[in-house]
Amino acid sequence: MANQLLEVKGLAVSYGDVHALWDVSLQVEEEAIVALVGANGAGKTTILKTISGLVRARKGEILFEGKPLNHLRPQEIVDMGITHVPEGRRLFASLTVLENLKIGAYIPRARPFFAESLERVYSLFPVLQNRKNQRAGTLSGGEQQMLAIARAIMARPKLIMLDEPSLGLSPILVKTIFQLIATLNEQKARILLVEQNVNQALKIAHHAYVLKTGKVVMSGRGEDLLANEEIRKAYIGGMAVKRKK
Ligand SMILES: Nc1ncnc2c1ncn2[C@@H]1O[C@H](COP(=O)(O)OP(=O)(O)OP(=O)(O)O)[C@@H](O)[C@H]1O
Ligand SMILES: [Mg+2]
Repeated sequence: MANQLLEVKGLAVSYGDVHALWDVSLQVEEEAIVALVGANGAGKTTILKTISGLVRARKGEILFEGKPLNHLRPQEIVDMGITHVPEGRRLFASLTVLENLKIGAYIPRARPFFAESLERVYSLFPVLQNRKNQRAGTLSGGEQQMLAIARAIMARPKLIMLDEPSLGLSPILVKTIFQLIATLNEQKARILLVEQNVNQALKIAHHAYVLKTGKVVMSGRGEDLLANEEIRKAYIGGMAVKRKK
């Protein structure tokens, strides 16, 4: 069996009386892009928040490199090598691009590699180098998303969790973001990707989980799910045969 980087077992999460997750199990293997897809309110963001320690599980276990995370604080989880790029980006709008990147590299594990990491993100995102002294709040939506991902890379994570990175972007920028995720993965980053753009997410994912009202209802290789008629009807808005000309 391939090595597991992240293992989530039997996770249950509630917000007061609202059950957001029921018995969710999933794995991220070494070297993988894993996608979580599903309709609004299915529980995708809740999974990422629970892994990063922002929300507490009612039941279940989360193991990272074999070590339990459940009772750690968010900062300790970041220190272990998990970085979360939340929905809505959460940049420091009044700080410059470079200042945001410096904050990304603030944790002790990442600090000694600051210059090297900066070079890496500038080569991945040349636009950020050109705009390094510009305030983050004045960047375009696509540039802000790039900065949010770049800031995550500055922390030298072993696992990057991305929540809806393509949300609100123009089709061309959506393409850029997905290409970038693939490039990051070629450079050995392991990625847990939440997306409503199910088509694109399944195309690049090695493995994917489909969530429905807090449960995993299907999982498999990205390309197999992409070819699955039920998935196409429910989430992509078309049948597999339609793609053939
Ligand atoms: N802070 C909260 N308090 C109460 N209920 C919440 C809270 N956050 C999420 N929920 C509920 O938990 C369920 C799962 O929400 P979650 O945000 O994880 O879904 P999602 O799959 O990320 O949806 P979307 O695609 O809309 O981002 C939803 O029913 C939501 O209303
Ligand atoms: Mg969400």
